[in-house]
Amino acid sequence: MIGVFDSGLGGLSVLAAIADGLPRADLVYLADTAHVPYGDKDDSFIRHRVLRIGTHLVDQGCRVVVVACNTATAAAVSAFRETYPELRVVGVEPGVKPAAAASRSRRIAVLATASTARSQRLAQLIERHATSVEVLVEACPGWATRVEALRLTDGDFVDEAHRHLDPLLESGVDQIVLGCTHYAFLRPTLEPIVAGKAMLVDVAEAVARQCIRLADAPAAGGGRLTLAATAQPERLQAALPALGLKRIARRLAQPAHLVIA
Ligand code: DGL
Repeated sequence: MIGVFDSGLGGLSVLAAIADGLPRADLVYLADTAHVPYGDKDDSFIRHRVLRIGTHLVDQGCRVVVVACNTATAAAVSAFRETYPELRVVGVEPGVKPAAAASRSRRIAVLATASTARSQRLAQLIERHATSVEVLVEACPGWATRVEALRLTDGDFVDEAHRHLDPLLESGVDQIVLGCTHYAFLRPTLEPIVAGKAMLVDVAEAVARQCIRLADAPAAGGGRLTLAATAQPERLQAALPALGLKRIARRLAQPAHLVIA
């Protein structure tokens, strides 16, 4: 079984790519909705949550665990790997490397939570893969919470998105990395703003490929999906159509359930 988790709905963008690539895998998705968002919390709190949620997935029999959250990966994937050295762990990091490689203007931007934006891990990622380009890191507080509320396209978000994106576009950025898995669901608002000037870069497909590479035996099952959340599990399931994910709902073996972790 493959476990995928995030603070809330964002990791569903990664889950959908994994589900498409592994039609026979049994998948469990766990949203830590009792503690969403992670992006405004400190590192020790995020580490504590990642170990609790990760341990729950291991106890359920997951042999591959995908940390479908940039914030949790930056703050805690090393600690999680140290705790479970046998486990196959896939983390999610902003697509700085592909963005730097694709940039013609040699200027890229990373949109991320406040926690990821200030993280040492992002600084190291930029240091490793993007020394030949200028990287502008833009924290976007409140965006993940907006996705949780399914307020994906309302008018005040269009204005807010312009406030963040217009200065980046004016400075010549031509690749904009979606450095939070929630932001994939904001594309309907972001795409028209950047159209013709910059590309949005998302790593869900690349993460799914890595998961597929690591998966072997856990990928052979009944193709069932289990959804769970640490609060309001019914909201997780109800969000699937609004997020354009009706196809993964078809794999649900049972209604989404509550997990105390
Ligand atoms: N989806 C997460 C990420 O990729 C976390 C968002 C949040 O909980 O603040 O960073």
